[in-house]
Amino acid sequence: MSTHLGAEIIKAEGITKRFGELIAVDKVDYLLHENEVAGIIGSNGAGKTTFFNLITGYYPPDEGTICYRGEDITHTTPQERVALGMMRTFQLTSTFDNLSVIDNLVLSFFRAHRKSSLFHLFTNTCKRHRKDEKIASILETFELQDVAAREVKHLSLGEKRRLEIAMAILAEPKILLLDEPLAGLAESEIKSVLDVLRRRIGRQTILIVEHKISQVEDFLQRLTVMHDGRIIADGGYEECLKDPEVRRSYWQIDVSGEGGAGGCA
Ligand SMILES: Nc1ncnc2c1ncn2[C@@H]1O[C@H](COP(=O)(O)OP(=O)(O)OP(=O)(O)O)[C@@H](O)[C@H]1O
Ligand SMILES: [Mg+2]
Repeated sequence: MSTHLGAEIIKAEGITKRFGELIAVDKVDYLLHENEVAGIIGSNGAGKTTFFNLITGYYPPDEGTICYRGEDITHTTPQERVALGMMRTFQLTSTFDNLSVIDNLVLSFFRAHRKSSLFHLFTNTCKRHRKDEKIASILETFELQDVAAREVKHLSLGEKRRLEIAMAILAEPKILLLDEPLAGLAESEIKSVLDVLRRRIGRQTILIVEHKISQVEDFLQRLTVMHDGRIIADGGYEECLKDPEVRRSYWQIDVSGEGGAGGCA
């Protein structure tokens, strides 16, 4: 775990989200620091995506507050949070599938910088900015040069996922929030997405929800484990996975009789 934590960037206190009777996120406190690379794991339905939706403004919390760099953003819209520098990718990819890779990148760059309306972009800007240096360099970084002109609907899932992360990074976010970026990818595609993420470490706050934890183990500085809407452990990777409640709830290992204290929450 990093000993040089940056300033607080996200602070969630007591956030709760209910869907009818179900409490999807239950009084969660969470702190994220600048340039931290943090992961969240938890079984299906643990509340990870709902937590992301609360942090990024897609759901208002029923209770609790969320601060961004000390400013209360609990009631701001997703767009306002993007403008502050919070950029997310979705569990399922979210691109313009009938447009080319390069036009998706141009749109993402200019939308995030609020330089043009979407209509104006479609009609004028895309064409002019296809040769933009920033776009060219991101195509290279994400190894998308060969498919730059291809319509997104013809990409492989791995190419599409790389494009989605490239689109998020082009907006120069302060925080990159990734919801299962490796879901559905083949081994070779996982490697290229991870290579891209690895290059951001130290320059970017990253919060990543991922089931394939062994894949992200080497670059996570911190791990949080959710279960039934609550955080049951939060700390270093190894200590979290050894935590008795994590062993019981997440790994479903019978820990009765093992005794011992521990826990990193
Ligand atoms: N829009 C919704 N309406 C009703 N219930 C929902 C809604 N979104 C999520 N839930 C429920 O809230 C709980 C948490 O769901 P969530 O999607 O946050 O879990 P998750 O940890 O992301 O799971 P997964 O690993 O499967 O992606 C689940 O029981 C889910 O069925
Ligand atoms: Mg989810």
